[in-house]
Amino acid sequence: MKSIASAPGKIILFGEHFVVHGTKAILAAIDKRVTVTSTFTENKTIKVNSELGTIEVPISSSHEEVESKFRPFVYLANEMITSNQDINGLEITINSDIPIGVGLGSSSACCVAATASISGLFKEVSSEDNLKMSIEAEKTIFPNTSGADCTVCTYGGMIIYDKISGIEKIDNTSDLNFIITNTMIPHSTKRSVEKVSKFKEDYDEEWDEMFVDMEVIIDTAIQAIKNNDVVTLGKRMYQNHQTLAAIGVSNDTLDYVIRELNKISFGSKITGAGDGGCIITLIEEENVDKAPEIVGNDRECFSAKIDTKGVELKREK
Ligand code: PMV
Repeated sequence: MKSIASAPGKIILFGEHFVVHGTKAILAAIDKRVTVTSTFTENKTIKVNSELGTIEVPISSSHEEVESKFRPFVYLANEMITSNQDINGLEITINSDIPIGVGLGSSSACCVAATASISGLFKEVSSEDNLKMSIEAEKTIFPNTSGADCTVCTYGGMIIYDKISGIEKIDNTSDLNFIITNTMIPHSTKRSVEKVSKFKEDYDEEWDEMFVDMEVIIDTAIQAIKNNDVVTLGKRMYQNHQTLAAIGVSNDTLDYVIRELNKISFGSKITGAGDGGCIITLIEEENVDKAPEIVGNDRECFSAKIDTKGVELKREK
């Protein structure tokens, strides 16, 4: 039996960092996916194969004993093994076309697809249960995750995410064209999230003002999306970027590339934790070709569409 699941990567259009502290966020799944294939084995081990390497550990191993990049898979395998005593071993293989570690949701997509794939060896679980389990798996790497990334990777399309009141899907997004620029500057979500928490503690009055501003940016962006008003949407994206810069998760290089991209588009911003990683640009289709020259040879850029498909599972005998 082979259980194969895939999930999309994501961009955050609005509200990264602030969502951790209680605003809404707007996220979209993109047309780059990760596929996880799980099989039973006779080896009394949990084996994980990915482009980041391979591990094979005894079936009794805890996720805390392995390198952090493998933890979610060992955690999920353990969960399944504990509730299904008659398993000898599991092999989990990850194939991804989502660039790793640049804020495009590769770890969340892996957690979502791995949850569906591993649990799919036994039964198909509901999207809600898949989501809950994948967030727990992601917490083995990012204990403070807001859950937003796993949510959009589970449901696909564009969503408004709120930690307390849950999600709302937005349907009319098919015409939006994005350019994603990978700045090739490595970043760490954990470090950036900690830095923002420190900013919030040190500058509480400024933070409170920015928090209110961010709520207004997001509410007006939601209206713009619903009205197909790309001009306002782009402006709000850049405003969101300026607020992210003010809390310290941008830098001169990112700000420069974003200002240049703004000249050929409706608006740009960092997406995700910042301090490096990726920039998203809302752009008219006919201007897409102008982007590579602007971003330069030492950065990568590609166009992306919103993927309406969330997690998908296929089980083969
Ligand atoms: O891991 P990234 O780069 O997609 O960033 C996650 C988004 C944050 O808002 C910074 C953290 C979170 O858990 O929502």
